[in-house]
Amino acid sequence: MKVTKAEFVKSSTRVHQKPEDRLPEFAFIGRSNVGKSSLINMLCANNKLAKTSQTPGKTQLVNHFRINDKWYLVDLPGYGYAKLGGKAREELQAVIWDYILHSEELVMLFVLLDSRHDMQKIDLAFMARLGEEGIPFGIIFTKGDKQGPNVLAAQVEKNCARILEDWEELPPCFVSSAQTGAGKEEILGYIGEVLETL
Ligand code: GTP
Ligand code: MG
Repeated sequence: MKVTKAEFVKSSTRVHQKPEDRLPEFAFIGRSNVGKSSLINMLCANNKLAKTSQTPGKTQLVNHFRINDKWYLVDLPGYGYAKLGGKAREELQAVIWDYILHSEELVMLFVLLDSRHDMQKIDLAFMARLGEEGIPFGIIFTKGDKQGPNVLAAQVEKNCARILEDWEELPPCFVSSAQTGAGKEEILGYIGEVLETL
């Protein structure tokens, strides 16, 4: 699938505020700073579309980007941002889960994991809750440009093996780089296939 048109439509904090045209949605979630916004920009070939930052906690709202007038990419705030204090953190959790649990158009969530690191408890706990709630998800290992191919492959394999300790089968998995564009065709191709089945 080619992205021919990508436009920011709306930010919201609760699902009843989201765009009203009810197109299918694919959303990106993951720890703060994992590269959600950068990946959206890479897929859409527009570095100004979603705001990115070296400082974690940049995205605090649910942001809807309409793609090809047919579907939405949704940029979610990061989970597990340690520096946020009690109330602010609770509110961010509320924003995230209100969207995940109540957006009827959400087709699939992609959980982004940093390809350099072992998954953290918070990632595994998040995926476990998705399982409990019956939310379909895939995994995208981000920042694939930051290591050589062998180290990258070994770390991805290690994380996949860890996922298989909790899950009977692997969800769809991708490796991406916002810097080189790696993973773009695979991820868009996959979304295109899923859209065809709707
Ligand atoms: P929050 O909105 O704070 O939750 O973060 P986010 O997950 O949206 O991360 P963002 O896209 O803002 O990226 C965080 C930092 O990582 C930025 O400095 C990006 O330039 C960098 N980054 C993201 N993806 C990649 C990548 O694939 N390769 C490299 N080298 N850097 C990346
Ligand atoms: Mg962001």
